[in-house]
Amino acid sequence: MTTASDSPAILEASGKKQSTQQERFEKVRTLVHSDSSSASAALAQEVADMIQERQAAGKGFVIGLATGSTPVPFYRELIRLHREEELSFHNVTTFNLDEYYGLTQGHPESYFRFMRDQLFDHVDIPAEQINIPDGTVAMEAVYDHCLDYEQRIDQAGGLDLQILGIGRTGHIGFNEPGSSKDSITRMITLDRVTRQDAAADFMGVANVPRSAITMGVGTILKAKRLVLMAWGGNKAEIVREAVEGDVTDQISASFLQEHDNSTFLVDEAASTALTRFQFPWLVGTVDWDDRMRKRAVVWLSGKLKKPVLKLVDEDYNESGTGELLASTSKEAYEVNINVFNHVQHTITGWPGGKKDADDTNRPERAFPFPKRILVLCPEPADAFIGIGGTLERLKEQGHTVKLVFQTSGNLRVADGAALNFARVVLEMAEQELSEVSNWESQKAYADSIVQAIEEKGEFGIDPGRVRKLKGLILRGESRDAASVCRLEAAESEFLDLPFYEKGRYRRFQSTEDDVSIMNRVLNDFAPDIVFATGDAGDPSSVQSICFRVFESAWNELTGADWRQECNVWLYRGRDRSYEAHEIEMAVPMSPDQMDRKAESIRKFISIGDDDQNALTRNREAAEIYDALGMAEYEAIEAFQKWQGAK
Ligand code: F6R
Repeated sequence: MTTASDSPAILEASGKKQSTQQERFEKVRTLVHSDSSSASAALAQEVADMIQERQAAGKGFVIGLATGSTPVPFYRELIRLHREEELSFHNVTTFNLDEYYGLTQGHPESYFRFMRDQLFDHVDIPAEQINIPDGTVAMEAVYDHCLDYEQRIDQAGGLDLQILGIGRTGHIGFNEPGSSKDSITRMITLDRVTRQDAAADFMGVANVPRSAITMGVGTILKAKRLVLMAWGGNKAEIVREAVEGDVTDQISASFLQEHDNSTFLVDEAASTALTRFQFPWLVGTVDWDDRMRKRAVVWLSGKLKKPVLKLVDEDYNESGTGELLASTSKEAYEVNINVFNHVQHTITGWPGGKKDADDTNRPERAFPFPKRILVLCPEPADAFIGIGGTLERLKEQGHTVKLVFQTSGNLRVADGAALNFARVVLEMAEQELSEVSNWESQKAYADSIVQAIEEKGEFGIDPGRVRKLKGLILRGESRDAASVCRLEAAESEFLDLPFYEKGRYRRFQSTEDDVSIMNRVLNDFAPDIVFATGDAGDPSSVQSICFRVFESAWNELTGADWRQECNVWLYRGRDRSYEAHEIEMAVPMSPDQMDRKAESIRKFISIGDDDQNALTRNREAAEIYDALGMAEYEAIEAFQKWQGAK
């Protein structure tokens, strides 16, 4: 890993492809920073230096910009440099990569609006130097508009630097699979995966535009320098394919391998699938500690499709893991047994620890019993998706469980759900149901909801009262889901963290207020165990922000007695599942528990987010354990211990 202090200059690193033996599978220079903030700050500083150098020489600077979550911390840092360190953008000309087709500039989800909110309104770039494809040109004028965009880039002297993100389809700009290397600015159809990824912004996938205008791969490759940023575990696999795989039009980011001045800038979570991190024994000598051994043996077993206990010396030697055997001077069988036991000991039906049992080889300690267990749930459905089965077990086994819903999740609730509620009230008023004699105030309230939703239009921003109502609807569904997992209403708490109430997707920013709420919850409850998620997610996601809020509160509480003994178990909800070697606690689930978990997830009707994929992931985890030679379970919920806890 490269830290901010020892990292090579990002804009100078490109061109020099693999710099070390470990990086030899990487066909484009890839710099790994510990987190997105340090990487973005380093890049912003270098861009600022370049802009200022050009200013000193009386020249302009032409930069291609991206939208989406990825560049947000980079833009925030540029704004800071402008405000606090007198960085001026008067000589800067910008060209954005793309725009949704059919959205007006004022549309809350248009990239024009996004760029104003995230950068342009906060710095001194002259408006006439800003260029973004126009999503409203008539269909018959699109071709000319695109040609004109290309010409404007050329007339500006070409792009000095193009900033890129990467979609899960491997797209850069909106160059979806199939885009050719010499494609130019044009209209494209968005991939299904891309539309799903934008669904939260548009309140459901059905509302995401089907097409967009994007710079072509050829347009992008003409830039003098390219920096592609990627954050979070969900990008790890596509980053590996783009960096280590063949150049292919199925992954347009792979074309960066053919540019002589391009760099991938990633955070630790997005780097995990690169060979040097995932299979380090294939690229150099490694320190064969217990963790590394488990990782290599589990990998070998998966690769050869042989249960761990059946691996023989030749399997190790012929697959590049001979060094592992050499390091222990033991036979394969002994190494196998050791790893087998390690994996076996991760399995427990007692996620809160087993009373009075010998806990030497159990993931969770026996004492105290029962435990005080705090389950953190960033968006309302997350805990059910991630640990629905475990929740139920914890309750059954007599622990004191508290389920904390960190955000209200109200942005995910469809307008229809709020309208339905308002209309029911109006109808009740009309029929003068029940003994209530005066319906005027309820009617006025319901009318105001209907009116607010009609006024804001399909994608408009919900006024506070609509968000509040949507949040309450979701609370009801959350309670329903919790009761399927046998939790009483009093065992849930709703925090409605302020960062979420004030923000929008991709643009959330937490503050001290959020941390102090979290601090209060932790301190009041004094847990023995915390279950949390979001540690390795996209840093702009609600899950990741909630995790960082928890982490800050946790760090403020170093002196608290309960904290010394408290374990923090991480779970995965919507993020990338744990790999078998990463799992430190595996909680098996019966078919009946799976049915109840499915039922709890289905309770979230108003968000139309019936993530039954969660069940598939649980079944896959069980299949992987089975293939390693463990007992065959229906499904498994997997956990890892948070290393940052102590
Ligand atoms: C946006 C763009 C896209 C995004 C990509 C990643 O202008 O061109 O290629 O960079 O979809 O999006 P995020 O950053 O939201 O993960």
